[in-house]
Amino acid sequence: RKLEMFVDELPDMPRLNGFNSVHGVLKPTSLQIGMFFTKWKFHRDLPPTPVFAYGTSRGKATVPGPTIEAVYGVETYVTWRNHLPSSHILPWDPTISPATPKHGGIPTVVHLHGGIHEPASDGNADAWFTNGFKETGPKWTTTTSHYANKQQPGNMWYHDHAMGLTRVNLLAGLLGGYVLRHHEVESPLRLPTGYEFDRPLIVFDRSFGKDGSIYMNATGNNPSLHPQWQPEYFGDAIIVNGKVWPRLTVKRRIYRFRIINASNARFFKFFFSNGLDFIVVGSDSAYLSKPVATKSILLSPSEIADVVVDFSKSPSRTVVLANDAPYPYPNGDPVNEENGKVMKFIVKDQPETDTCTVPKKLIDYPSADVSNAVRTRYISMYEYVSKSDEPTHLYVNGLPYDAPVTETPKSGTSEVWEVINLTEDNHPLHIHLGLFKVVEQTALLTAGLDEFKMCMTEHNDAVKCQIGKYARGKKTAVTAHERGWKNVFKMMPGYVTRILVRFSFIHTNGSYPFDPTQEPGYVYHCHILDHEDNIMMRPLKIIK
Ligand code: C2O
Ligand code: CU
Repeated sequence: RKLEMFVDELPDMPRLNGFNSVHGVLKPTSLQIGMFFTKWKFHRDLPPTPVFAYGTSRGKATVPGPTIEAVYGVETYVTWRNHLPSSHILPWDPTISPATPKHGGIPTVVHLHGGIHEPASDGNADAWFTNGFKETGPKWTTTTSHYANKQQPGNMWYHDHAMGLTRVNLLAGLLGGYVLRHHEVESPLRLPTGYEFDRPLIVFDRSFGKDGSIYMNATGNNPSLHPQWQPEYFGDAIIVNGKVWPRLTVKRRIYRFRIINASNARFFKFFFSNGLDFIVVGSDSAYLSKPVATKSILLSPSEIADVVVDFSKSPSRTVVLANDAPYPYPNGDPVNEENGKVMKFIVKDQPETDTCTVPKKLIDYPSADVSNAVRTRYISMYEYVSKSDEPTHLYVNGLPYDAPVTETPKSGTSEVWEVINLTEDNHPLHIHLGLFKVVEQTALLTAGLDEFKMCMTEHNDAVKCQIGKYARGKKTAVTAHERGWKNVFKMMPGYVTRILVRFSFIHTNGSYPFDPTQEPGYVYHCHILDHEDNIMMRPLKIIK
C-alpha cells in the first residue's frame, strides 16, 4: 500500500535559543540536548516509527531535532547527552571498523556542520561517547561543545559523526538545523523574517516497513566481506521536516526557505512543477554577493540552498516541489512517481501586500584569488570493487582514515586543492573548518585514462602520473548560484575540480578566535554517509 501524498502539514521544528536574553541584552547560554529512543509519526497513515531523536527531553524529541537559533557574537554551549539504549535500531556493520565501546551502547558524537570552532567542539569521529558518558572514544575530551558564533551569518546543521556509524545514526534521526543570525548585517537586506516566512526545509529520503519502522537492507552488497554495509542508502519516501510528502499553505508573497539535503546518499535536483523560480541568496553557510534566479537546484547530501520564492508569481493554485536527480547521481536510476515528488504548496487566493523585497545586493566576501594560495594539493577519490564488480570500500588519496595525516594547512592561509574523482559517481566533498570556492571543473581526457587510473592506484601521485597530460578535457562552468563560499561541493566523476580553500574567516581579515591547531584536529570527507563510514574520510591538521 502506497502512502498518500500531501496529507500532512509541514511542521516547523521546535526552536531553541542559543542565547539568553537578560533585559534585552543577549548573553551566552548553555543548552542540554539529549538523544532519545522514541517514536516519530512520519505520515498520517504510518504507525509511529522507532527513531533516535534530539530534544530537550524525551517527550520533546523530534525528527529532525529542534532548530537552534544562534546570534552573531553570542556563544552557545551545548551539552549533548546520549540517552540511547544498548542496541541500535538499524543494522550497522562491525567489519568497517566502527567505534566499538567495550561495554556496549551506541557511540555518538555531534558535529555542527559548517561551524567554525575549536577542534575539541568539532565532533571528531573518534571523540564519541556512549549513554551517560560511560565510555568515550580515543579523541574525546569534553562533555560540552562550545560554538563561538563569530563566523559569517548563515545556515548550518548538527548531526551525528561517530566513526563508522554516521550513516545509521543519521538514518535513525540524529540531525537538526542551526541558524546563525547577524542582525546588523542581515536586517538591511529586508529578506522575509519571522518563523512563518523564513523556514528551514530539512529534506531526506527513507523507506518504511509496514509496521512503520525505518527499512534498511540488512544484507551488504558484498556480504562475505561486509555483512551489512551497502554503498548507498536510498529510500522511496521523501520527507521534509519530519513528514512524508507534506503540504504547506502559503500566502501570495515571498518566503525564504533554507533547504538542507540531509539524505545519506540521495542528490536532489529541485524544481517547481509550474516553473516558479528559486531566487538563491545563500549557499551552504554563506550569503552570495547577489541573488541568482534559477529554475532548478542540484543539492548533494549536506549541501544547503538558501532561497527566496515569490508565490505571488505562481501561475497556479498549487505547486509541487519536485526532484529529477537520478540515484546514485549522476549515472543511476531515474526518479519514479514517489521519489520524484517532495512537497506541495497551496497558494492562497487573496492578494497580499508584501513589504519584503529581494535586494539587488547581498553580502560581499573576498573573491577566490588563486594567486594568494600558498600551495596546491592533489586529492584523489578511489572506489575499490570485488571480483563481481561490487564496491567494497572507498578511499581519499588511497589511504585509510587512520594512516598518518597528510593535509596540514597553515592557519590563516589559502590553498588550491585539485580534487581528482577517479570513480563513476559524484562525491560531495566536505571540509571541516575551511570554506572554499569552486574555481573550475575539468574533464579528464578519456584517451589513456585507464593508464592514469592504474598509475594513481599504484602510486597515488598525481604529478608522477602526469595529471597535466590528462586534465585537458572540457571545462564545466560553475553554476552562478554555486559561486559563493561553500563547505561542500559535488566532485564530478572523471573530472578534476579545482577549489580554493581558505583557512581563516571570510567576513573579517582577522584570524580565528580559538586555536585551530589543537587536538584532535579536523577532518574532510565525502558526505555520502555510506562512503564516509567506509571510509572516505581523512584527518585535517591545522598548523601554526
Ligand atoms: Cu556534515 Cu563531517 O559532516
Ligand atoms: Cu562518496
